[in-house]
Amino acid sequence: MMKSTTTSTLFSERLKHYDKREKWSKMGKIVPFLFTSFALITVLFSFFLLFSPIPFKVTSKQGLTSVQNLHELQGNFPKTDHFEEVENCDLFTGHWIPELKGSVYTNSSCTTIPDSKNCFKHGRQDVDFVNWRWKPENCELPMFDSMAFMEMVRGKKMAFIGDSVARNHIESLLCLLSQEEIPLEIYKDTEDRFKKWYFPNHDFTLMILWTKFLIVGEERMVNGTGTSAFDLQLDKVENSWADFLPELDYAIISDGHWFFRVMYLHQGNSLTGCVYCNEPNITKHDISFAVRMAFRTAFDHINACKNCNGLVTLVRTFAPAHFENGFWNTGGYCNRTSPLSKEELDLGVFEWEMRNIQVEEMERAREIGKKQGKKFGVVDVTRAMLMRPDGHPGSHWGNKWMKGYNDCVHWCMPGPVDHWSHFLMAVMRKELGIFS
Ligand SMILES: *[C@@H]1O[C@H](CO)[C@@H](O)[C@H](O)[C@H]1NC(C)=O
Ligand SMILES: *[C@@H]1O[C@H](CO)[C@@H](O)[C@H](O)[C@H]1NC(C)=O
Ligand SMILES: *[C@@H]1O[C@H](CO)[C@@H](O)[C@H](O)[C@H]1NC(C)=O
Ligand SMILES: *[C@@H]1O[C@H](CO)[C@@H](O)[C@H](O)[C@H]1NC(C)=O
Repeated sequence: MMKSTTTSTLFSERLKHYDKREKWSKMGKIVPFLFTSFALITVLFSFFLLFSPIPFKVTSKQGLTSVQNLHELQGNFPKTDHFEEVENCDLFTGHWIPELKGSVYTNSSCTTIPDSKNCFKHGRQDVDFVNWRWKPENCELPMFDSMAFMEMVRGKKMAFIGDSVARNHIESLLCLLSQEEIPLEIYKDTEDRFKKWYFPNHDFTLMILWTKFLIVGEERMVNGTGTSAFDLQLDKVENSWADFLPELDYAIISDGHWFFRVMYLHQGNSLTGCVYCNEPNITKHDISFAVRMAFRTAFDHINACKNCNGLVTLVRTFAPAHFENGFWNTGGYCNRTSPLSKEELDLGVFEWEMRNIQVEEMERAREIGKKQGKKFGVVDVTRAMLMRPDGHPGSHWGNKWMKGYNDCVHWCMPGPVDHWSHFLMAVMRKELGIFS
């Protein structure tokens, strides 16, 4: 499913080059890695994030056949009877409990599941990973209700802004929403990085705006070949997404996977630092710094936006990858079949730090935004997803060219990724003051 032979050739060349590098045991140990080990990470994320296939066609009406069953199912999901309880409850601290009703959609009721996330189609045998429900410690998380969601967003425009994991979220949301209405695909660019759908019955517009870093980031090229090192302009948002802000009601921002690489950091016209570089005269920063600055610049831009009245910005926090016993090209895999328990959860990992930075920057922006009429919130999926090493495609992502390699970055559909929309809807309801 590679986009072209050029990219695959390029990739296999890099692969040969980096294959002999030292082996690593775990994603979570990225931070202290030395510069010399670094290129490997870069290749990993370049690969998964750039070339993750995205065949997408919202045309079929087959999905409608199961709508009735669906509403029956949804009726059985726990509803919130206790308004105050949800209002004051921390939805994001909890654990996974068995939910025998399984998923709201299947790979036949949702016709738009991208091939690379259709894990059952590609031979995934264990099915239990769809049979879990998130249970916040002190309340119930209301499950996604496509009909109610559509009413909430009637006449609105919502964009998902971020990398291919943001795309994974919108793909999941489309499966949930297509149970209510099949959208028209009204725009797509040649690389499927910018797409727009319209739901005529609800006058709802949904779009994906693709960005690696939120801020301007250009890959350093040598003789026409990418070096995997990037120049980041810390004080400039990428206009390809930011230009859409004035027309949006909801911006769902997420990002992070592209930052694990050599980066040269610029402010104004000066080079002010770098990440994972070994030039003697440049101030060294860690990934956290670059991530923080990227989010801060994006949020400052939103707060300064004159024509963005009433915009609600929600940060979907970092979603961890789960490679075990190696990296993607050193035999790393993610073939677990059940969630982690609370006791097994490790918040000492770098992914949690990424999440904390994103939440801190959101809170900073929220304070500033109060004066500008801008609203900010968080869809804080990190803790729940840290506990779902069983939610990734692993070897079941149908990529013939990359046989033997595992995708432990993206998420199977159906699967725990569908919970991001449960969380999203709950947060939006809180935002609107609706608690039922
Ligand atoms: C759905 O998954 C089943 C395996 O559970 C597979 O046989 C079938 O081909 C898949 N259908 C589609 C439309 O992907
Ligand atoms: C780039 O191309 C020039 C001319 O072909 C060559 O001299 C140089 O070594 C190349 N640089 C790298 C880094 O490959
Ligand atoms: C580093 O700084 C020193 C002293 O200012 C200078 O002589 C040297 O050329 C610089 N090196 C680089 C790589 O810029
Ligand atoms: C997961 O994969 C590894 C490596 O292929 C294998 O050794 C292990 O038995 C697998 N575990 C399960 C639960 O399938």
